Amino acid sequence: MLKQLLIGNWKSQGSVEEIHQFISAIGRLSAPENVRPVLCPPFVYLDLVKKRLPVGYSLGAQTCSFNLKGAFTGEINANMLQDVGCSYVLIGHSERQESLDILEKQMERAWESNLVPIFCIGEEAPSAWYSLAKKISYLSSISSASPFFVAYEPVWAIGGKIPPSCGYLVQALQYLKSHLKNSQGFIYGGGVRPENLKEILDLHMLSGILVGQSSFQQTVWTMLLAILETYGKVCKKQV
Ligand code: PGA
Repeated sequence: MLKQLLIGNWKSQGSVEEIHQFISAIGRLSAPENVRPVLCPPFVYLDLVKKRLPVGYSLGAQTCSFNLKGAFTGEINANMLQDVGCSYVLIGHSERQESLDILEKQMERAWESNLVPIFCIGEEAPSAWYSLAKKISYLSSISSASPFFVAYEPVWAIGGKIPPSCGYLVQALQYLKSHLKNSQGFIYGGGVRPENLKEILDLHMLSGILVGQSSFQQTVWTMLLAILETYGKVCKKQV
């Protein structure tokens, strides 16, 4: 069965105590069979989260170094992420403001360490498609032997409570899909909340959803999972 990814990018949030509380609350539920939840905590908590990961969940990192091991003070390399149990890594989240040059190297490091990169791409302002050209050109050159997901995240929708209209999302996703046939799938992030998730899923264009800070609220996370589970059941009935 093709599973929908539900990625929780906790960003710079959490403490040992809060993480124990969060995992205890969600740990009562294992992942629904049609969903692959991915938790992306801050680096220092990866090991803690890995040790308490509920059944069916995966671990992801919020970024990785563009270097291999060596004299790079403070850097966390992709090998280390794989070593502590990560399967995925976010590359190029807009909040990090990294150049494409750096992102290309991070993608290489991720593949070398058998991590699946989730490459974030999104226009700075509504309809500013020109700002995507260089990233699209790079992504379209990647060989199909190197798996990656595309996370479409319009920068102007991140952190808000309202994603772009469905019409806008269809237009953007069609545009990206027509250029990036080599991707494993498309994920949407930017203002996804339990109140609007269903209408985004109803577009039937996505392999997953990426949620920022609010994914670290246990009630929000549980609601998002429940909506994805119900959605999977409805789709199964329709087949
Ligand atoms: P948001 O963040 O869900 O708060 O919009 C998404 C993201 O930054 O990946």
